[in-house]
Amino acid sequence: MAAVTEYPFFFTWSAQNAARPFELTGGEGAWFTTADGSRWLDLGALSYQVNAGHGQRRIIEAIKRQADELCLSAPNAVYPAKVELAQRLLAMAGPGFSKVFFTLGGAEANENAIKIARQVTGRLKLVSRYRSYHGASMGALALTGDWRRPALEPALAGVIHVQDCYCDRCPFGQRVETCRRECATNIGSTMTLEGPRSVAAVFLEPVPGANGVLVPPPEYWPIVRQACDAEGALLVADEVLTGFGRTGKPFGFQHWDVVPDLITVAKGLASGYASIGAVIVHERVAKHFDDHVLACGLTYYAHPLACAAALETLKLYEDDKLFENAERLGPILRRELDVVAARLPPTTFVRSLGLLAALELEAPAAAWTKLGTELVARKLSLHVDPKRGTAIFAPPLCITEQELVTGLRSFGEAAVVAFEGVA
Ligand SMILES: Cc1ncc(COP(=O)(O)O)c(C=O)c1O
Repeated sequence: MAAVTEYPFFFTWSAQNAARPFELTGGEGAWFTTADGSRWLDLGALSYQVNAGHGQRRIIEAIKRQADELCLSAPNAVYPAKVELAQRLLAMAGPGFSKVFFTLGGAEANENAIKIARQVTGRLKLVSRYRSYHGASMGALALTGDWRRPALEPALAGVIHVQDCYCDRCPFGQRVETCRRECATNIGSTMTLEGPRSVAAVFLEPVPGANGVLVPPPEYWPIVRQACDAEGALLVADEVLTGFGRTGKPFGFQHWDVVPDLITVAKGLASGYASIGAVIVHERVAKHFDDHVLACGLTYYAHPLACAAALETLKLYEDDKLFENAERLGPILRRELDVVAARLPPTTFVRSLGLLAALELEAPAAAWTKLGTELVARKLSLHVDPKRGTAIFAPPLCITEQELVTGLRSFGEAAVVAFEGVA
């Protein structure tokens, strides 16, 4: 491989000298291969998007068939894959959802959700959380609360960040026995303090993913829904990472008895085989645009190749029962990580929902770097964030129980070596 700086393109979210490129050549199921002939167990679904798994021939063939039939499009053109894809997304979202706005990825889905919310409510302000990631475009980055935002601020006026549902390190100083769900009620109070009925929308990941899999208490989403109703603000579920079976249900919000107004999706929609995202819109919002101009548009809106890839991906999820597999394997992922945590310092936390899990441990950066080295030696790929002291697990949903257990036990060995001596 060439030296990092010799490549004629940028590597993302990194000083170029610190980037760690790898030569991806292909893969199958839960595994990918690199140019040196290695097979890696992909416990991170590349960038959390390969829900259907690597090397899925039927998605690849669907793209080829679509390329032969119709490869070019215009935003208002109609063709079967576009219609059927929208129908399937609405059915997955549940009763009341009536329209889809297509995008090229997750940031753009949130960008257009911001615009829809502002147009429908006539209000400017937006509420999101500190430990969140909503994408890298200006609006989505303004919503984002994590370390990626400050370098670009001020990105978009009117965004208010609130504290998180971080039960292991409660920002309100509560313990399970004393908790009064302040993380949820705080959103309503913040909206009131911002000036009554001034917030257009609250953007939440059902489970903040890349920021540590912060699974909310069961009352969280219903409390926020009530607060949004009281303020007339829209509730947006950013399902870019949690959508399409990741948590064991089609969408993460479906774990609770709530219906958001907008759902933003990407990643698992076409499982990374094409670049596509969407905003799924509830009828109570969509009807506004029957008589008002929808000031949103993209040249590559619902590109035929991307629609064909997404449509086949959704059919594959259904035929191979991949969401059910995620639901079944979720407790096994949890069990194995609890076993690993028991061998690590007592300040280790495990959080999970379905096939999305985090292992968090406050340890010196050198120990986390060592974990990275140990994982490379074992050909295990997952998301390790030394700065935030977390490892995040999100394997393809087609992973088998044996692959998952073997991979996690191997991870456990790597973690025990890396964190040896950490108090
Ligand atoms: C919850 C969430 N929203 C939005 C995005 C942005 O998606 P994209 O990278 O496709 O723009 C991501 C990406 O990781 C995400 O995790």
